[in-house]
Amino acid sequence: MDTTVSIAGVEFKNPVMTASGTFGSGMEYCDFVDIEKLGAIVTKGVANVPWPGNPTPRVTETPSGMLNAIGLQNPGIDVFIERDLAFLKQYDVPVIVNVCGKSVEDYLDVVERLSDTNVAMLEINVSCPNVKEGAIAFGQKKEALFDITKRIKAVAKQPVIMKLSPNVTDITEMAKAAEAAGADAISLINTITGMKIDINRRKFVLANKTGGLSGPAIRPVAVRMVYQCANAVSIPIIGMGGIASAEDALEFIMAGATAVSVGAYNFINPYAVTEIIDGLEQYLKRNGTETVRELIGCVK
Ligand SMILES: Cc1cc2nc3c(=O)[nH]c(=O)nc-3n(C[C@H](O)[C@H](O)[C@H](O)COP(=O)(O)O)c2cc1C
Repeated sequence: MDTTVSIAGVEFKNPVMTASGTFGSGMEYCDFVDIEKLGAIVTKGVANVPWPGNPTPRVTETPSGMLNAIGLQNPGIDVFIERDLAFLKQYDVPVIVNVCGKSVEDYLDVVERLSDTNVAMLEINVSCPNVKEGAIAFGQKKEALFDITKRIKAVAKQPVIMKLSPNVTDITEMAKAAEAAGADAISLINTITGMKIDINRRKFVLANKTGGLSGPAIRPVAVRMVYQCANAVSIPIIGMGGIASAEDALEFIMAGATAVSVGAYNFINPYAVTEIIDGLEQYLKRNGTETVRELIGCVK
């Protein structure tokens, strides 16, 4: 039985990763989770300088999910390299660093700072507002997505994963723009913009008014988008959105994802990622399937 997969020349012992922003850099989870068992650890978004994040309240529960408007709070790349990457060095696990920014230059700063580290891949969060272009997210306009991908690829030393926003009319347009600009892989989906109102206080629940919806509620949307992208581009896909079990992970893989990430469900069950890895192995055994790879995109 073989659970290995590879993306852009990087080998993963299994296809199950953490989703950015839901696992920190592993410090808070390492007492519960055997970090070296993970396919990869994907870290919380990091910018060139520290970001304070949004005012509170910034998370709230929703049916089968949650809304968050953390605002990409992060300590900035200097602290991240000294503290988080230094911590992760002790583990034999590929590290994928999620990068955020308010301008293309911000992203390029972070990408350049990471060039001489042992980070395996970069994941570029293009759901951030582009302050120079009326705060429309980079990932919501195919021209902007093409431009940022191309400029990052020109300086990046590691393979680049473009993390697509689902808040668009046609996700395949975005996948094609990322591929055409040279992205090594895409990941999807980021959260879906939502809103919740407190009818007793007659106010928005989140200080930011809107937040990103994640958790099992978004899974069917995510599976559909992964399937559409898998049929539109030939670069590998990392699928995510509401994965809570090995069965959920398998849906994404069969829809065309080479690997999957577990996000909000880590907050419900901190053992989720490792249980999903065990569940995948059991599925392979039960079904006499020799490799995970033969399941990728098997549903046409
Ligand atoms: C609290 C929270 C923080 C997140 N932070 C980031 C982030 O920093 N960068 C990013 O690209 N995605 C971030 N995400 C999005 C997740 O990585 C993931 O794409 C999304 O939540 C869908 O997966 P899920 O339903 O399994 O959570 C965050 C999600 C949550 C819930």
